[in-house]
Amino acid sequence: MVVMKKIYVCMKSNEKMKIKPTSRLFISTIFSFLLLITEALSNETNWDFSNGNFEGHKFSKLKEINIKNISQLKKAWTHKNGFIPKNKNNSQITPIFTGDSIIISTVNDNLISLNPSSGKEKWRISLKNPTAKRGLLYSDKLSTIFVSTGSGVVAIKESTGEINKDIGKNGYFGNSKSLLSPIVYDEKVLVAFLNKIESFSLSEGKKNWTINLNGARVWSGFSYDKTTNTVAIVTSNLVHLWGKTDIDPDYTNSLILIDGDTGKIKCKFQDVRHDHWDFDMVGSPIFTDVKILNEKKRAVYAFSKTGNVFAIDVKTCKFLFDDKKNFKTLKTETSKYNQTYSTEQTKILLPEPLLDQRYDFESFLKTLSDKENIDYLKFKTRKAKYNKDFIPLSLNYDVLMYGLHGGPSWYGGTLDFNNDQIIIPSNHYPWVLRSYYYDRLLTKVINLNEKFFSFFSKNNYASPFQKKSKKFASETIEKVYSKLPYFIDAKGKSLYEAKCQSCHGINRKGKYASETYGDTYIPNLIGITFTNKIKSLDSLDNFNYSHSYAKGMPKLNKEEIKIIKNYFNEHDKILKKYNLLREWGSWQLFLDKDKLPASPPPWGKISAIDINTGKINWSIPFGARETDNRKIIGDKNFGGVLSTAGNLLFATGTPDKYLYAYNSETGENIWKYQLPFAGSSSPMTYFYEGEQYILVNSGGGKFFGYEEELGDQIIAFKLN
Ligand code: HEC
Repeated sequence: MVVMKKIYVCMKSNEKMKIKPTSRLFISTIFSFLLLITEALSNETNWDFSNGNFEGHKFSKLKEINIKNISQLKKAWTHKNGFIPKNKNNSQITPIFTGDSIIISTVNDNLISLNPSSGKEKWRISLKNPTAKRGLLYSDKLSTIFVSTGSGVVAIKESTGEINKDIGKNGYFGNSKSLLSPIVYDEKVLVAFLNKIESFSLSEGKKNWTINLNGARVWSGFSYDKTTNTVAIVTSNLVHLWGKTDIDPDYTNSLILIDGDTGKIKCKFQDVRHDHWDFDMVGSPIFTDVKILNEKKRAVYAFSKTGNVFAIDVKTCKFLFDDKKNFKTLKTETSKYNQTYSTEQTKILLPEPLLDQRYDFESFLKTLSDKENIDYLKFKTRKAKYNKDFIPLSLNYDVLMYGLHGGPSWYGGTLDFNNDQIIIPSNHYPWVLRSYYYDRLLTKVINLNEKFFSFFSKNNYASPFQKKSKKFASETIEKVYSKLPYFIDAKGKSLYEAKCQSCHGINRKGKYASETYGDTYIPNLIGITFTNKIKSLDSLDNFNYSHSYAKGMPKLNKEEIKIIKNYFNEHDKILKKYNLLREWGSWQLFLDKDKLPASPPPWGKISAIDINTGKINWSIPFGARETDNRKIIGDKNFGGVLSTAGNLLFATGTPDKYLYAYNSETGENIWKYQLPFAGSSSPMTYFYEGEQYILVNSGGGKFFGYEEELGDQIIAFKLN
């Protein structure tokens, strides 16, 4: 748009020069022609949607920066928004470019407009949490930015940051929580709320249609194809691993194609049926033309954490590579607990998968030479099942597998038009899924306390005083509740407090570090007398073996173990009698003794899939890490990718904090720049005042393995 404005100014000065009528026609023809060109150019070179365009391409036709001059790419400016989150909640937004400004959101719910050539702030406003967590949209026609928030989408005037009350309901569309950018076309505003999709009229904000997703959620995948008027979404599983999965309608773990006008579902492709492992479908679906056996088709590609890649013919709703030999049926075990499991799942072989879910522990052990590490890992896996697909959860064993952070993850891939391929990063490190009982009554009381406090703190950022009071209240609840078992077995309870409580907790809940903080694990002991975990209390030897790696263990004798086992028996019986035991599952990173993923590297890759054949053109390790005694090639990654007509692929998000550039045709790394914090969303590019810029969000990594604190920076690059 900037280019267009310049031409407009230029015409004005011409007019002043009193041009003859004959040349007026000529000039106006040239003017219209230039307008056409600039319009086409601006559509191609603006970045008015976080994913580049509604089709999910993350591709730019700009090629001022290209493989020949990439070595001259230098930092142009940095913008620091001043808010560094303390709760590992990093910024996951890809900024947008309106033609005049760069628009970004921050983790503390500010929306900021920046000058594209200097990074200087033009305006800043504060909105409701979460603000534009994973996407933004700018409408050139309306000079308006559409921002998803914790309560509806709000329209913001590009020039001033004020709410545009002329559209929607006083500037608003809907009132639920949405993380993704809305999609606006032909007087319609499409919004992916967390568990429903809605269409509104642009002018009045009236609802056109709703699809309620019955518990499935949309975290990352929302695209729209103008040529077929099709909306594509991808969904997650239900809320928790042990939850009920026999629901109707079932929209979980699926790619769903929807008619944009009517909201009617055209077709639905479910990846995992009855998911108990958290295998969401992720990343924005990518619409593209493909050529198969010389026939042109409109296709959509979508990705699952299982590694399955869906390639669908949008018009026929059939698989693009719809041949039996491209699918493998996996016969799967079911669970003996009161849960629904599917007896089979499907592995898609073409497009080629991006991950094998099976974790081959025995083969991994053979690659190790450090005896201490081998013993440690053998201990950790002593009651684990692995090296199979879709192992059902159980209270009697742990499940080891790949895939909970992908394969592909939420930031998805890019369509590299130059080479007819989709380029996508993926993760490859193992997880352990553990199941246990929890005490329903205790959990209920704690949840009530949480609710009480969240009522007073409007967004995620409770004040230090609120945080302290909440902590004090829940500790008091825990303490009072822990007195109850004295009525059952005072002697056993006292012994537990003296010898076990310091680790296993005041109410036997244990300790689990989430993937954000590491792999600390002390088992939950609630209800263990109904599982085979109680074998640890069958003898002193068993007890000592279970505690081989527990540091600072007090000494126990046979008699004390008996007393404690008896106390557990009595307590568990009461919990069962009053129906207070419920199953729950938690997943953790599966790390070795050096706190590194217990699997052979690369732990992260970038792969290029040929869109016409489904074959992988190239696959390379992504990022690198050096520890005291190892150099690891290919690391975890949570950033994203951008491809350009300059035959370049930009990728970021590894713990080494680099923004990498690759030759997109070959995957060869040709440039890198170390950011202050790991890249935390897909990079983008724009053209302003005659120069191409690459912009990256240096927000840091929120998961364990990213050593640095989180950041608040947006960094722009241009040719020197
Ligand atoms: C110093 C910390 C610590 C103390 C004290 C402690 N434990 Fe443990 N306990 C652990 C750890 C760590 C594990 C094993 C974690 C693992 O499997 O990696 C464990 C494992 C167990 C298991 C095996 C659970 C399973 O999943 O197989 C039982 C049962 C158990 N502890 C009971 C007790 C009892 C009873 C006491 C008190 C007499 C006690 N522990 C004291 C840390 C402790």
